[in-house]
Amino acid sequence: MTAPGHLAPGLWRHPSQEKQDLAHWVRLAKILDEAKFHGLFFADVLGIYDVYGGPSNNGPALQAAAQIPILDVSLMISAMAYATTGLSFGVTASTTYEHPYQVARRYSTLDQITDGRIGWNVVTSYLQSAAESYGFDEQIQHDERYNKADEFMDVTYKLWEQSWEDGAVQADSKWVYADAEKVHKINHVGKYYKCAGPNLVDPTPQRTPFILQAGASKAGQAFAAAHAEAMFLPGMVPEKTRAVVDSVKAQLPRYGRSEDSMRFLAGIFICVDETDEKAQRKFQDLLQYADLEGTAALFGGWSGTDLSQFSDDEDFAFRGPTAIQSMIAAWTATAPSGLKWTKRRVLEELAITGAHPRVVGSPTTVADAMERWIDEAGVDGFNISYATTPGTFEDLVKYLWPELRRRGVLQTEYAGKTMRENYLQDGGGPSVREGHPAKQYHAQSNPKFRQWG
Ligand SMILES: Cc1cc2nc3c(=O)[nH]c(=O)nc-3n(C[C@H](O)[C@H](O)[C@H](O)COP(=O)(O)O)c2cc1C
Repeated sequence: MTAPGHLAPGLWRHPSQEKQDLAHWVRLAKILDEAKFHGLFFADVLGIYDVYGGPSNNGPALQAAAQIPILDVSLMISAMAYATTGLSFGVTASTTYEHPYQVARRYSTLDQITDGRIGWNVVTSYLQSAAESYGFDEQIQHDERYNKADEFMDVTYKLWEQSWEDGAVQADSKWVYADAEKVHKINHVGKYYKCAGPNLVDPTPQRTPFILQAGASKAGQAFAAAHAEAMFLPGMVPEKTRAVVDSVKAQLPRYGRSEDSMRFLAGIFICVDETDEKAQRKFQDLLQYADLEGTAALFGGWSGTDLSQFSDDEDFAFRGPTAIQSMIAAWTATAPSGLKWTKRRVLEELAITGAHPRVVGSPTTVADAMERWIDEAGVDGFNISYATTPGTFEDLVKYLWPELRRRGVLQTEYAGKTMRENYLQDGGGPSVREGHPAKQYHAQSNPKFRQWG
């Protein structure tokens, strides 16, 4: 996240944390590109976390730099893309607060300037503070947000796939730049959107950007099965994550999609050093800088629960908010028994890592844990969060990469030029796969759209 703290409020104070100017982001992108990371993924929110100690209490988030201030990363991608050759970029945009016409243009631009190394993390947003700044008194209801997102996707697919036919741009002829016969309005009229089109940008390497999504609710899973080409999964223990993976995979045929048209990525935080002891010491050092009030602010935004109403000594395992109860149930499977789950302890578990698994140890310990996640959760890879940038990633490259290479589970070259080719690795080229809802609009695959002038 282009904020001083994403899942690790307070860590902006760590002595190793670089100032996050443009040179920092370019340096990080180059480190990841050289180490052959598939992508650099940027999360995003559109409001401040103000539930804790609230209502509308901005203090804890601001003090800890908990996801605030947050820059618009789409304006910084060009510099990172120019400095790299294979790394892809996941950029988040909300279907609840933006307009599909504007989003289609932005991602076409990003796809153009990155040569197809762009993905869209589709989110429906969850902060009341965002709703209030975008002109709503209340958030749109959860499932309704997903309905709106479905139509939003439909509009963008039409703009990307249908409005410009292949071959519409004829810049090689003397008099014609684009053939007007091959550029169409989409004339979309739906429940939420009206959009005439065409897209303002001509077809780009992927046309439709690679689609990423997270969201494990029933509506979220259905949305993922319909649209996502990579899904981020929540879950503190592999079996729980596996249940979501299996459920989404089982839904793919309903949408006419094949199993290999989608990749599953588990969120994880990794603290690695030469030995287990050194890694543990490093983690304890990081923990000193964690701001638990900022962590409570994040938890408030995620769950809607204000933890300030609970005393420090209450045992949350027996009483407490539902969101915490389910986390504790997952943690208990991995933590020593007999622990008292006080507010402080819960916040220490969430500090630095958020509600994702945390692995601290030597390269062997970490690689074993990752292999267990791949095997037991059925995921294809990981979305690795950080305590500091580029520190966390430099450690991965220095300590963990040699071990993963030794095990033959890390790529040494990029599989293709575009994000879709690099993530799916199925030889299917840069365009969306057969069965994906965007594909039906591609003018060449569906001649009926050619009559829409
Ligand atoms: C790894 C991961 C990354 C996410 N990134 C974002 C994000 O950048 N912005 C956002 O508004 N929501 C983000 N979310 C939240 C999801 O979009 C979604 O709102 C949440 O997981 C709840 O989904 P559900 O209501 O379908 O269960 C993320 C979730 C996960 C697990």
